[in-house]
Amino acid sequence: YKRITTKSLFDMKANGEKISMLTAYDFTMAKIVDAAGIDVILVGDSASNVMAGHETTLPITLDQMIYHASSVVRACERALVVVDLPFGTYQSDPKEALRSSIRIMKESGGHAVKLEGGSEIKESIKKILNAGIPVMGHLGLTPQSIYKFGTYTVRAKEEAEAEKLVEDAKLLERIGCFALVLEKIPAKLAQKVAESISIPVIGIGAGNGVDGQVLVLHDMIGMTHEFSPRFLRRYMNLYEDMTKAIGQYVTDVKSLDFPNANEQY
Ligand code: KIV
Ligand code: NA
Repeated sequence: YKRITTKSLFDMKANGEKISMLTAYDFTMAKIVDAAGIDVILVGDSASNVMAGHETTLPITLDQMIYHASSVVRACERALVVVDLPFGTYQSDPKEALRSSIRIMKESGGHAVKLEGGSEIKESIKKILNAGIPVMGHLGLTPQSIYKFGTYTVRAKEEAEAEKLVEDAKLLERIGCFALVLEKIPAKLAQKVAESISIPVIGIGAGNGVDGQVLVLHDMIGMTHEFSPRFLRRYMNLYEDMTKAIGQYVTDVKSLDFPNANEQY
């Protein structure tokens, strides 16, 4: 396996090959996702929801992100591993943003960081890039700002917000981000952004006119089942399958069916 790099992703866009990306938060899952041929693994701060059961992504800490990321990095032979900077570790000033990014790079071995926002965090992104750390942007629905917006509905439907998003995407390209995520915006707008910049645009709920797709792993394998936005395609129904399997185990233990003669020493 040849390791995917930020350069590979740039080349994939230039050659019209779509980029596949999924989240992972632990060694065992990341090993499966990497071996299955994914291009990019995102250690998302969605771990706050998926792994820890928080309502939002705000509570997860830098130490916790580093724990998840180091587990994922140990599993990956091929995928590029991108790690979210969690809420509160980059917004206050560029020096803190750099310090947080350096901790992620040194302590987890991840290959790049991702930050939510555009012009507001421009100086922080520049500072991180100047240290030689690749940065992925994230625009549109930015879950760390949930209390500013109040809902997780589609973003940039209004002209003003759409214009700012296009400007922010161009800014992120200009200052040197290697790619960006567009979350939950109209497909037409996402396509326009992808066509107007040369760095890869990875969409989630942003339609088919972008350069790649990302989903939360536990959603696409149907391990979670209460979250069903229109953009989510479920490839398995693990919630159901696991519930059945575990129920069967309970029954087998209670009925003395398990373990049988061959399953003991
Ligand atoms: O944390 C996450 O899972 C993300 C993706 C949804 C892009 O940021
Ligand atoms: Na995230």
